[in-house]
Amino acid sequence: MPKISISNQAGKVVSFKLNNEKPQTVLALLQAEDIRWMHACGGKGRCTTCRFNIVEGAENLKPQTAEEQKFIEAGKIKPTQRMACQAVPVGSVTVEVPEKCKLPGVNYSY
Ligand code: FES
Repeated sequence: MPKISISNQAGKVVSFKLNNEKPQTVLALLQAEDIRWMHACGGKGRCTTCRFNIVEGAENLKPQTAEEQKFIEAGKIKPTQRMACQAVPVGSVTVEVPEKCKLPGVNYSY
């Protein structure tokens, strides 16, 4: 089963089933496992607070959405980052929460 690993949450791992009929975003998959993740606009692709650094498995994410491309072109997110509310995994990926997107009360460690 593919996995989302969060490198700086002590390697927390979420396993998920691929569902081609109803693809799930990284944010939806994390929330389904009660993992706290910043998402200020509610997952509408408007704020970038849900962004993550790709550590491994970039090829296992569906292509960037128009929203992500817009924010990359504007310099709001790096080409090595994705927005959790937009990125849809099709295989295993390892992510890291950027410093500015860390939530209070969550233990970030390696
Ligand atoms: S939650 Fe706002 S862009 Fe993803």
